Amino acid sequence: MKNNRRNFIKSSAALASLSVLPTSIWASNNNQMLRTAHIGVGGMGAADLNDIASHKSVEVVALCDVDSNALKAASKLHPNAKLFKDYRVMFKEINNLIDAVIVSTPDHSHAPASMLAMELNKSVYCQKPLTHHVSEARAMRKMAKDKNLITQMGIQVHSFYDYKLATLLIQSGIIGKVSTVRAWSPKNWGYDGPKPKGSDSVPENLDWNLWLGTAVNREFKDKLYHPGNWRKIVDYGCGTLGDMGVHIFDTPYNALELDVPLTIKNKCRKPNGFGFPENNEVTYEFPGTKYTTEKLKWIWQDGSGAPKNHKDLKLPNKEKLPLQGAMFIGEKGRLLLPHFMELPKLIVDGEYVDLDLSELEKSGKITNKPVRDYGGESYLHYHQFVDACLGKDNCTAPFSYSARLTETILLGVIAGRFPGKTLHWDNNLAKFKEEEANKYLDSPYREF
Ligand SMILES: NC(=O)c1ccc[n+]([C@@H]2O[C@H](COP(=O)([O-])OP(=O)(O)OC[C@H]3O[C@@H](n4cnc5c(N)ncnc54)[C@H](O)[C@@H]3O)[C@@H](O)[C@H]2O)c1
Repeated sequence: MKNNRRNFIKSSAALASLSVLPTSIWASNNNQMLRTAHIGVGGMGAADLNDIASHKSVEVVALCDVDSNALKAASKLHPNAKLFKDYRVMFKEINNLIDAVIVSTPDHSHAPASMLAMELNKSVYCQKPLTHHVSEARAMRKMAKDKNLITQMGIQVHSFYDYKLATLLIQSGIIGKVSTVRAWSPKNWGYDGPKPKGSDSVPENLDWNLWLGTAVNREFKDKLYHPGNWRKIVDYGCGTLGDMGVHIFDTPYNALELDVPLTIKNKCRKPNGFGFPENNEVTYEFPGTKYTTEKLKWIWQDGSGAPKNHKDLKLPNKEKLPLQGAMFIGEKGRLLLPHFMELPKLIVDGEYVDLDLSELEKSGKITNKPVRDYGGESYLHYHQFVDACLGKDNCTAPFSYSARLTETILLGVIAGRFPGKTLHWDNNLAKFKEEEANKYLDSPYREF
């Protein structure tokens, strides 16, 4: 199976390097503009394009989308960019004009597109979750390291004030060592219904074969996959955990300096071979770190009604919990981190305690201020990537970090195939002790 992926990357890269001019790298680009190519420019890709292009040193040279409507809309804003529907053709034709690649496709195409870009020595900004399979996350991390490439995963809230503040507060020991994290989202990127029958004709604006890419072939069904709803389907997305979990796990993962877990259990319905469960309760156990007790327990709940009542989640004055968020439970108190655009809140002995931020602000560790407007902060993470490509900054969610976070998320997704069963993860072998779960770590790449 692994050979399949390698073959895809190597053979596509070999074709690309046949392009007329030699492969470009940033250092050989004389006009000092970072030349970006964007794969997937509808949905979040449009926002990614906007935030990357808002950097004064970016020149958008290529737009690629399998949906000609998305491509048309993006090209109106960037009329000089070359247009493609197949990223392999894009690399084959203009590899030498591209310095950095932004991948904003559905999850199943993240690794094929990003790995090909990295094979060709491009810097890569890839949307979250980094990959669809654990094996791909490991391969992406390794390639980025081996080639020493600038990389960033698209978890833009990582660079928001509130999350950076929560990280510093936890690491300052404000609630002592943390024993448990509870995180929740009532969003539902699952599908409990039966596999739909029949097929619909593919709209003229969509190239369905390219949309499927390396993933399992299926007949097209209107509104079931494209756009957006692929998240609910196991062959293309990663369910609610892969969608919201990555954002909400990020701060605790980062703040507590966690690595991959020891055990994972998902309480959900039985697998139906098509859609993700609409409700999940995933319990992870992590090895301890300097910020946690001997082990750390992590409970994630999603779907309608999440989270269930629990004493750890009780707020002072009978306040309602934020719709989505995370609660850190420590020896000396709790820290609530709403998702998103709200300050973290400290709770000690059942009462809120005002945060004194003067020392932290003086320390210079946080440079931005909270802006209660998404666009006022969203560009930070993208500009950090561009600046890192220009040698002026470092990425804070490079693949060395985000592939491990993604692996953790995907282990919870796999545990959903074995409801109620505790799976044991061997980090060194990259295998479950439960042999039956190992086949979900990878998937063959379809030729397309
Ligand atoms: N960071 C965030 O806050 C955030 C928010 C939303 C989505 N996302 C992520 O962005 C990605 C896209 O999600 P979305 O909601 O925009 O999905 P979407 O289905 O709405 O849009 C995906 C776009 O990619 C195009 N596409 C699909 N396959 C392609 C391919 N092989 N080559 C080129 N283009 C291709 C589609 O035509 C479409 O324009 C996902 O990974 C998702 O998790 C991140």
